[in-house]
Amino acid sequence: MSDKLRYDGKVVVVTGAGGGLGKAYALFFGARGASVVVNDLGGSLQGGDGNARVADGVVKEIEALGGKAVANYDSVENGDKIVETAIKAFGTVHIVINNAGILRDKSLKNMSDQDWNLIQQVHVFGSYKVTKAAWPYFRKQKFGRVINTASAAGLYGNFGQTNYSAAKLGLVGFTETLAKEGAKYNITANVIVPLAASRMTETILPPDVLAMLAPEYIVPVVGYLVHESVTESNGIYETAAGVVTKVRWERSNGAEFKADETFTPSALLARIDEVQNFDENCDHPTGSKDLMSVVERNADLKPSQQGPEVSFKDQVVIVTGAGA
Ligand code: NAI
Repeated sequence: MSDKLRYDGKVVVVTGAGGGLGKAYALFFGARGASVVVNDLGGSLQGGDGNARVADGVVKEIEALGGKAVANYDSVENGDKIVETAIKAFGTVHIVINNAGILRDKSLKNMSDQDWNLIQQVHVFGSYKVTKAAWPYFRKQKFGRVINTASAAGLYGNFGQTNYSAAKLGLVGFTETLAKEGAKYNITANVIVPLAASRMTETILPPDVLAMLAPEYIVPVVGYLVHESVTESNGIYETAAGVVTKVRWERSNGAEFKADETFTPSALLARIDEVQNFDENCDHPTGSKDLMSVVERNADLKPSQQGPEVSFKDQVVIVTGAGA
């Protein structure tokens, strides 16, 4: 692999590329031979009106570097229009960087349905719409690269961000399935979990920390993952300030219970340490456990010992979808 990866002949769509991380990606690809669609509707951080022509400035910067770029001002919710811009200007699309995003931070207590829905709409539906529109081109040319942008709030939770956390972890599941559906067409999909100085973080992090968090320090991870020589897929890369880490699922070996009436909450309580033991025999799954082998072993298991009583006395329980 060359020490300077290039993207000549590749068409890259970067959403939300008018500022922050997206702008850094767009400038990078523009400087390294790619044709770039600089998408941004120029909204405010909360998704309201803003500077509608913010993408134009980035296009000009790319052109000043000798690169090729066009602007697109659609919301990612109309992802097909963004891909259409790529097709009209450059004939196809090879790489999609789903980066556009907004925040509507509220504690659950204060969350409105509109705050909830708008976040799902921009992050999840938007990433789906752009990817869905690019997918037929990826399949036909047997090449495609997708980056979806998650967040530590999605992986680990964060106070005041139930809407954003749900959307961002949703994008992890979206990516995992894209990776599986794309594998035989040389389409890869990976997640990045960035932390970078932008208008999203400038009010919550101190200046000395922000100084180390330039968006440009996220660019090498994205640039690496989407290069044609890199076939890694289905990864989650958490990265900031030059530190690059990979996150994966871990599954405990667990406990097996005979599938009969002795498998109760009390029986589980008696062996909960085994279920929660991450010290030995864990695996790092990319698929569900082979349940059929467990089913076969089940006949040989003994009825479960009961632990302390698990009582629901005086508790009011709501069960949804409980009709069948
Ligand atoms: P930013 O606010 O600087 O940039 C986001 C861009 O997306 C803006 O230019 C905005 O106009 C655009 N945008 C918003 N809604 C859009 C829509 N519907 N259609 C098209 N464009 C739209 O934010 P930043 O920090 O660059 O964030 C980029 C991505 O990284 C976002 O998805 C964000 O959630 C994610 N992220 C950022 C972190 C950080 O530390 N900055 C941390 C974790 C995740």
